[in-house]
Amino acid sequence: MMFASKKIAHSLLIASVVLSNFAHAVSFDGQYIQPNLTNTAVEWWWGSAVGASQSPGTPGPVLQFLFYQGYSILADFNHSSLPEYYITINGFFSNGNNFSLTVPATSGNISEGNNNSVTGTWGTVGAFQISSDLKTMAVTFNAPDAPYRISGSMNFTSNRANHYGCNVTDSPYFDVVKPVKTLNDAEQVLFNQLGWAVAIPGGTVNVDVRINGTRLQFTGNGYHDQNWMPLALNEFISSWYFGFAEDTSPPTMLCCKINALSTGRRPRISALFALPARWLVQKARLRLPAGR
Ligand SMILES: *[C@@H]1O[C@H](CO)[C@@H](O)[C@H](O)[C@H]1NC(C)=O
Ligand SMILES: *[C@@H]1O[C@H](CO)[C@@H](O)[C@H](O)[C@H]1NC(C)=O
Ligand SMILES: *[C@@H]1O[C@H](CO)[C@@H](O)[C@H](O)[C@H]1NC(C)=O
Ligand SMILES: *[C@@H]1O[C@H](CO)[C@@H](O)[C@H](O)[C@H]1NC(C)=O
Ligand SMILES: *[C@@H]1O[C@H](CO)[C@@H](O)[C@H](O)[C@H]1NC(C)=O
Ligand SMILES: *[C@@H]1O[C@H](CO)[C@@H](O)[C@H](O)[C@H]1NC(C)=O
Ligand SMILES: *[C@@H]1O[C@H](CO)[C@@H](O)[C@H](O)[C@H]1NC(C)=O
Ligand SMILES: *[C@@H]1O[C@H](CO)[C@@H](O)[C@H](O)[C@H]1NC(C)=O
Repeated sequence: MMFASKKIAHSLLIASVVLSNFAHAVSFDGQYIQPNLTNTAVEWWWGSAVGASQSPGTPGPVLQFLFYQGYSILADFNHSSLPEYYITINGFFSNGNNFSLTVPATSGNISEGNNNSVTGTWGTVGAFQISSDLKTMAVTFNAPDAPYRISGSMNFTSNRANHYGCNVTDSPYFDVVKPVKTLNDAEQVLFNQLGWAVAIPGGTVNVDVRINGTRLQFTGNGYHDQNWMPLALNEFISSWYFGFAEDTSPPTMLCCKINALSTGRRPRISALFALPARWLVQKARLRLPAGR
């Protein structure tokens, strides 16, 4: 998942996108699409750690990372090799100071091992390993020199079963909330081609990193998922909101609202979901204009 609510410029026209020859991941958290020089696909592995507040009225520490292949927001494709590989890391120290950095990598290689084990290697600057039972994820950062100055590790331990976006296990797309109507181009991409696999819906995470000379060390709530799509986000959606609510016991409530771009005179519709799925389906239907 992307970080919070990013306002995305509308604009680009979607020519009917047909990218049917997706590589299908063998592992739950593996490679689902192939971003490359001749397409605009993007795939990313996201994780976050949220620590407890250290003093009243002050938010706790936060660290999130994204291992990217390609661009989630359409960029100037002005380079000789695509997709570009990079890691973005941002968050807050316990004192409320923030950090945000992007570390380029020479490669972004996903290797799928036995069962669900996955290893991601982003050049020499970062890596992650998902265990075959999807119970642990280890992340390392290794760009200690200026201008990046980040190094260290994060270890996740899951306490919930993996699932796809809508708490289902049979399809990584938004089939379950797909409205009964003819979808416009943007909606077709949103409901049929925006993939979402949640390998670690909740659990604990140990963080120990050094960022720009400051150590950030805490144990917090962890979450990890990945997304993929044939187009950059701003080509088919106008906004994406995502939130967590942690209950005292599993399951985590996960909510998300994604608006497809409206094109022409077609009404904008949303994929709005939260668990459980029944609520989801109702919400998605409720948002459709009367008579549809
Ligand atoms: C790039 O991906 C497309 C599918 O989107 C595929 O048809 C093509 O063969 C790939 N090209 C390379 C060089 O891998
Ligand atoms: C794109 O590449 C061309 C040729 O290498 C270069 O002249 C131009 O400055 C580049 N544009 C950007 C925005 O990087
Ligand atoms: C990050 O910190 C800088 C300097 O204090 C501040 O200007 C900026 O608004 C902060 N950004 C966020 C997202 O909090
Ligand atoms: C990427 O991983 C594959 C195994 O899936 C391996 O054969 C290949 O050598 C790796 N490539 C790089 C550049 O690390
Ligand atoms: C893969 O999963 C199967 C079935 O769950 C299990 O029998 C096997 O031991 C696993 N192999 C590895 C290497 O984890
Ligand atoms: C994560 O696990 C590795 C391997 O056991 C260990 O070396 C590292 O210190 C751990 N990191 C944290 C933050 O616990
Ligand atoms: C890194 O820390 C130095 C001071 O040690 C500061 O001047 C600089 O702005 C910091 N860089 C970032 C990206 O926060
Ligand atoms: C999500 O699905 C799992 C497995 O089917 C189920 O145990 C869990 O209760 C579901 N969560 C919600 C919030 O519906």
